[in-house]
Formats: sequence, structure tokens, C-alpha cells
Amino acid sequence: MNINEIIKAKRDCKELTEQEINFFVEEYSKGNIPDYQASSLLMAIYLNGMSEAEILNLTLAMARSGEIVDLSEIPGIKVDKHSTGGIGDKVTMVVMPLVASLGVPVAKMSGRGLGYTQGTVDKLDSIPGFRTNLEMDEFIRNVKRIGIALMGQSENIAVADKKLYALRDVTGTVESIPLIASSIMSKKLAAGADKILLEVTCGSGAFMENEIRARKLAQTMVSIGKMAGKETIAVITNMNQPLGRFCGNALETKEAIDILSGKGEKDVVNVCGLLGAYMLKLAGKGENIVTNIKLIQNQIDNREGLAKFKELISRQWGESRVVDDPDILVKAKYKIPVNSVVDGFVSEIEAKNIGQAVVNLGGGRLKKDDTVDYDVGIEVVKKIGDEVKSGEPIMYIYSNDETKGLMQVEYLRNSYKFSKTQVENYKEILDIID
Ligand code: URA
Repeated sequence: MNINEIIKAKRDCKELTEQEINFFVEEYSKGNIPDYQASSLLMAIYLNGMSEAEILNLTLAMARSGEIVDLSEIPGIKVDKHSTGGIGDKVTMVVMPLVASLGVPVAKMSGRGLGYTQGTVDKLDSIPGFRTNLEMDEFIRNVKRIGIALMGQSENIAVADKKLYALRDVTGTVESIPLIASSIMSKKLAAGADKILLEVTCGSGAFMENEIRARKLAQTMVSIGKMAGKETIAVITNMNQPLGRFCGNALETKEAIDILSGKGEKDVVNVCGLLGAYMLKLAGKGENIVTNIKLIQNQIDNREGLAKFKELISRQWGESRVVDDPDILVKAKYKIPVNSVVDGFVSEIEAKNIGQAVVNLGGGRLKKDDTVDYDVGIEVVKKIGDEVKSGEPIMYIYSNDETKGLMQVEYLRNSYKFSKTQVENYKEILDIID
């Protein structure tokens, strides 16, 4: 077999065989195929797409290229959750303790943030002392002991994907649905859960800016999961504005505690309720989604989800008093208002700009090894549909550097659009694909 023939086949829109895909992934991982040939094949895939069988074979080959986590020691149905990333998306920190408090075993590996989206691991790392770098045996032991463990994704998972993603990033081949779907699903299959729940975000703060592409990505990933023998459901959520009230690592952790204490904003509570309900369904704890949403809400009302989060923090060496007093996580030196200069109703928010402002304040990474200031972030006071008067704050900037904070004011103000009349209701949930 030879890579030049494989490139020509994809260039000419032919379907690649399982052997050809395995050859490409294995030989590229070993360094036997140079980047210029791999880039050429990636571009041919980007332009000509892939069949379902090709996408499945690529996913499986990448999953096999690293460690496959074995969670079989943990009794019960293990359900993984993945978000394609968004602004202010603290759902994992809320939903996982809630379902764990209902007896669903949670063994979840999460990523760090890169670019304008933040990752759950950075949010957890904002809790003093909390360790996300667990060894695999400790991770499994914690799930067996308290029903939940959250850690950073092992470096050894889907190693071919890591190498290919870095190449895609510099060759204009990231935005391909077959490549994104196989990249995400290879890591999910390797992470060892029995079933998978996907949150596919859509809108100005998401990877998929329009609903047609979000639906296509969701359908592709659900079908990969099913073909690989793991029931998979995707919830498409609206990311045309940040989710909840806060963006930024420590601020989002504080907000997650507020939500678990019954003080969450409606949009984020709705998304957490629905995702939690689908996790319960996948875990075999209830077929009816409306009933499951009530079960989740009950775990908020009786604070059992909050107690489970506290137990998780203590177990992973974190300062659990943050749960009793989440305001100790609000540490930035400056809180700077962004005031409206018009009267009207908020009609649009360029959500990506809010994620970018967090990065500009030092709260995100441009490169993988950049350090992060956990304290900084944005509080979103006015959301789509809200009425605003000139002079009222639409946002607050939390910064440790006054100049850097003040530099974001105009940028953030210009991220809002206003209408003279009331706008249509904003829907947080766009679709469910199962
Ligand atoms: N996230 C991934 O893990 N892979 C992609 O290709 C895009 C987003």
C-alpha cells in the first residue's frame, strides 16, 4: 500500500477502504508518512468528504492509536458527556455531581481550554488545592468509592488524533465535519464509557455557527457511536449568547456552586436539567425525560448534588469550603462596568468576543502551555431580550490589571446589538438527535 495512491483515490472522490485508512493512521503516527502528504490527504477529505464507513474506520483507527481506558471494574452503566465547547459552559461541573447523586457512576475526563473556549479542567483547577492530574487507578478507585471522579484527559488517549489535529490547525482543515466528528468520537470511544451524551453547541460562540452544520455534526457523531456499539444521544444547544451569567474559570466554578444551591439562571438550569435527564435515560435510570428533569431539579432543591460536588472536591484534595462560601472564588482586583450608551432591547450578542475578552484578560490560552489567570472573567448582566436603559451596566469585567480591563470595555460594548422593539424569545435547546 502506498500513501500517494491513497491521496489520489480521495482526490478522485473514491471511497477509501478500511485497510487504507488503517495504513494512513498507523504509518502517520509512526512518523513514516511526512506532514506534506498527510496534509494533502486531509485537504482531499476536507473537499470531498467521507462516507459513513470511512468516518467510522477513521474514528476506530484513531481510537486504537492510544490507550483504551478500561472502566469495567466500576459497576453500573458508565455514561460519558462531551461538549463541543462554548462560552460560559459550566454544565459538566453541575450535571455530573447531580447524576452521581442519583447513583450514576461518573468517570469523566475533560480537556483544558484553548482559544476563546474554556475547558472544565481549568475551571476545576481554580479551586485551591484541587487535583485534576490523577493516575488512572486513583481515578477508578474514586468512582468506586464516592461515585464520581473528574480529571484531565490522559495524554495517551487517541495519540494519532493529537498529531493530526495539530496538522489540521495549520493547514486549513479543521472545519470538516468528518474530521471533527472522528476526532471527537475517537477520544470518546477510547475513554471507555458504555454510552455517550453529546452537547453540540451552535451559534456565535460555538465551533458550529449555523444550525444546519451543527445538526450534521450531531448526526454524524451519533451514528459513529451507534455503529461502534455505544448508544449515543446529542443535544444541540444555542450558543448565540454565553450560557448563564459568568465566563471565566473561577467565576464559572462559583456559578456552578450557585446553580447546585438553587440559585442558577433559567437558561443554564434548563440546559443542565435536560442534559442530566438524558444522562439518566442513558444510564437506565428512567425513560421519561420530563420525569427525569424533575428528578434532577429535586437533587438541586434537596442540595444532594451540591453535597456530591463537595465530596468530589474533598476527595481530589481541593478546599471544599468554597462550596459553603463560593464568593471566596471571586478574587479579581478590579470590577469594571460596561455601560450601555443606548436604550432598547438586547437583540444580538457576539458571544465569541466575550470568550476572546476572557483570553485577553489572561483567563485563557493562545498556546497549549500558556499560564492562566483563574480570577479574571466577565459577568453578563443583560442577555438577549432584556430591556436596557442608557447608562445601565450590560456587563462587568473582572480583571487583575486595570489597564487590561479597561481595554476590553469598548470591545465588549460593541459585541452587543440592540433593537427598539422586543425581540423573539431565545431558545436554549435547539434539537435532540438520537
Ligand atoms: N474538538 C476536537 O476534539 N476535535 C476537533 O476536530 C474539533 C474540536
